[in-house]
Amino acid sequence: MIAEDDKRIVELRTFMQEAKTKDHPDSQLISILHKAQELYGYLSQEAMTEVAKEMNIPTAHIWGVATFYHYFNLKPKGKHSISVCLGTACYVKGAEEILNSIREELNIDFGQTSSDNLFTLQEARCLGACGLAPVIMIDDKIYGSLTPKKALEIIKSYKK
Ligand code: FES
Repeated sequence: MIAEDDKRIVELRTFMQEAKTKDHPDSQLISILHKAQELYGYLSQEAMTEVAKEMNIPTAHIWGVATFYHYFNLKPKGKHSISVCLGTACYVKGAEEILNSIREELNIDFGQTSSDNLFTLQEARCLGACGLAPVIMIDDKIYGSLTPKKALEIIKSYKK
């Protein structure tokens, strides 16, 4: 349950009030969900219920929108996000092997978070560093010219 003294809920409600004044409040749903995710880091059941109540939209519809667009997270993210680039330049230089080694090491797939809540795995389509392919990005930092072994060493360094 969202605490009433949570500043984020106040901000979300204000955002929804403003959305209601726009011409087509229904079409504001995506930006409201973006706002909720920005504030909470993911779309919790509680946040979606709050949006449903405030915007008078059925929860099932909100759930449908939230699950349709892959940029919405329905679970809390790990402390670090790992983006594995599967763009063409990285792919031809072995991105798939890098991805498989990370999947095996952390026992997760795209969109999932490791059991220690340290890492969330994401897919990227070109991180703008093709000259360094294959590339991964952890949080805001790019790591290039990787081998599966190097990638795992880097990930281990984030566990310390
Ligand atoms: S394709 Fe991977 S960085 Fe461009």
